[in-house]
Amino acid sequence: MIKKTILITGGAGFIGSHVVRRFVTEYPNYTIVNLDLLTYAGNLENLKDIEHKPNYIFERGDIADIDFVHQLFQKYAFDGVIHLAAESHVDRSITDPFSFVRTNVYGTVVLLNEAKNAWKGKYEGKRFYHVSTDEVYGSLHDGGFFVETTPYDPQSPYSAAKASSDHFVRAYANTYKLPIVISNCSNNYGPNHFPEKLIPLCINNIMNKKPLPIYGKGENVRDWLYVVDHARAIDVIYHNAELGETYNIGGNNEWTNLNLVKKLCEIMDSKLGRAPGESAQLITFVTDRAGHDLRYAIDSTKLMSKLGWKPSVTFEQGLDITVDWYLQNQEWLQNVVSGNYEMYYETMYKQR
Ligand code: NAD
Ligand code: TYD
Repeated sequence: MIKKTILITGGAGFIGSHVVRRFVTEYPNYTIVNLDLLTYAGNLENLKDIEHKPNYIFERGDIADIDFVHQLFQKYAFDGVIHLAAESHVDRSITDPFSFVRTNVYGTVVLLNEAKNAWKGKYEGKRFYHVSTDEVYGSLHDGGFFVETTPYDPQSPYSAAKASSDHFVRAYANTYKLPIVISNCSNNYGPNHFPEKLIPLCINNIMNKKPLPIYGKGENVRDWLYVVDHARAIDVIYHNAELGETYNIGGNNEWTNLNLVKKLCEIMDSKLGRAPGESAQLITFVTDRAGHDLRYAIDSTKLMSKLGWKPSVTFEQGLDITVDWYLQNQEWLQNVVSGNYEMYYETMYKQR
């Protein structure tokens, strides 16, 4: 088995922690270095089941710190990079776009540049994998699906920053021949999802009988994928993708926000022994998100046909596992739902 040292950025976050767990457990011959700044979204509790494994190392640091990133590459001589670190919440990008430019754009360029310098054109066996989002393609209004060749049309500061980082990754491939691969995934859900995002926020609020804030009329559509299936796709792409290629990843699983929240209410009424329809009374329509994208829907035919990936769970199974995880990990929830978070709630959700 070939020994490799792989840098995973953002490994203390939601998706990153599932990717780190998968690589640490599936590939004992790899040393996995998790670089994470531990912002509000980074939580080492997400990794406590694997933190003592001999092939796992955590490094706290900022991807936008050129000297730090340089030292890290010198220290570990990475064979590959799987880059997930980012500011990831659209609503926060509307109130503070600069931190999205700093981390998502500048931080990505710092990593690309260091990989280029550290690998100095000796690219054999090396790979820089950038994990991106379907939101770079913009908003679908008239049916259809995002494919890998859909023109970029980002509509929020978050998606504009991710689109920009994707462009830089391709520019490094074109200009310096850096061996890159990119994937663009639809909305993820599952254990360890920070409760500012729709699904964990609603699970938490249903548990605590708090209002379930639906932006606008709840007609916006998202294509939901179980996070472990995203981590499986990242594994397959990292190992088998053709260099320079892009792969879309999605669940073929579209839901309007209102129907999704109603479904969650149904599941939780049954699990919590509440009367059918009880939790749905918590649904509250609030002011719409500025510039709210109407619909995202991914065509992942390329990934399925070329690399043989497909989702391993249905949405019903994934939601069931997810709700059970939150019910059984209330301490995790309490630890992340801090006093600051309550204040954030108040400014973010203006009830109609
Ligand atoms: P997240 O917000 O849960 O985690 C982001 C992680 O990055 C956190 O651990 C945070 O501490 C770390 N981080 C932030 N700034 C940093 C910096 N300057 N230096 C080092 N670490 C830093 O995000 P997520 O939902 O897990 O998303 C991970 C990646 O996947 C992102 O690049 C995101 O754009 C992409 N993505 C997310 C989704 C989704 O549905 N959540 C879908 C498609 C793609
Ligand atoms: P979110 O989980 O923030 O992901 P994204 O904006 O990246 O798709 O939001 C998912 C959808 O849910 C999106 O259409 C916005 C909507 N939404 C609400 O209606 N209420 C909420 O409180 C949140 C956080 C999101």
